[in-house]
Amino acid sequence: VDKQVNLAAEITRLKKEKNAVILAHYYQTPDIQDIADYVGDSLGLSQQAAATTADMIVFAGVHFMGETAKILNPHKKVLLPDLKAGCSLAESAPPDLFKKFKDQHPDHIVITYINCTAEIKAMSDIICTSANAEKIVNSVPKDQPIIFAPDKNLGRYLINKTGRDMLLWDGACIVHEAFAIDKLLELHKQHPKAKIVAHPESETHILKVAHYVGSTTGMINFVKNDDNAEYIIATEAGILHQMSKEVPHKTLIPAPSHEDNTCACSECAFMRMNTMEKLYLCLKYELPEILVPEDIRQKALIPIQRMLEISK
Ligand code: 13P
Ligand code: SF4
Repeated sequence: VDKQVNLAAEITRLKKEKNAVILAHYYQTPDIQDIADYVGDSLGLSQQAAATTADMIVFAGVHFMGETAKILNPHKKVLLPDLKAGCSLAESAPPDLFKKFKDQHPDHIVITYINCTAEIKAMSDIICTSANAEKIVNSVPKDQPIIFAPDKNLGRYLINKTGRDMLLWDGACIVHEAFAIDKLLELHKQHPKAKIVAHPESETHILKVAHYVGSTTGMINFVKNDDNAEYIIATEAGILHQMSKEVPHKTLIPAPSHEDNTCACSECAFMRMNTMEKLYLCLKYELPEILVPEDIRQKALIPIQRMLEISK
């Protein structure tokens, strides 16, 4: 891209010209969040994707989010700035293995976390996000056995919360599993008044010491409505951008990760593949586009619609 191009101005101009909407997740870089029409958690983003009247959706997030938007909008163009922006949770559930697992438990219904591929969604009975997972699990009759996939950490958290004995798939988020409990407790000793706020993709020992557990939007709302002055935030560091806008006078401290973590911080390498330059190019050339085979799309739509219905 020509250095003279003012990326933010061009993105805004192209967006208007093409009647496109930019949906961004809280884990995007601050410049992308600031130019987006909507910034939210996975539930909010899928609700926005379901409701939009724009002709084109540019998803500043990862692949499964763009896929969900496409499943809901087969006639709209859905663009993702970098198709390689995947997710370790989605990768952890290859469709062929998941099908075998599901076939071994034909009496179970399948509740699937939205962080999975369209093929996995097509094999699911109902989708959930971290914002509505408890409600979705509780919506299933008590005597009905459940498979929960692909996040075992969220699954364990839900088992504790709901008392339901679910069969868990062995998947995890590399970013949230990198939080180090020993370092977190050490940090808390230095800030004994700080409340710990954690995402349920984190491991059980992190969630056990958290004062609040919830989705990214839930975490922001908690910090906003709570009267404490200091918080330790255990999720991807991108959330600090919107959170600090909401509570400029509060102290927000990112939770520490293991030193051997690839970036020694809590950034999601997949989310961070998107840049302003790629966003601009993607709007300009209307590429790369997310496509979902129609038979899979139709099957995947049903459990997404069930989720949206329960989450109204
Ligand atoms: P939520 O924003 O829905 O809490 O999801 C977090 C996440 O890891 C998305 O990839
Ligand atoms: Fe996937 Fe974790 Fe990155 Fe979210 S933060 S996109 S769950 S790898």
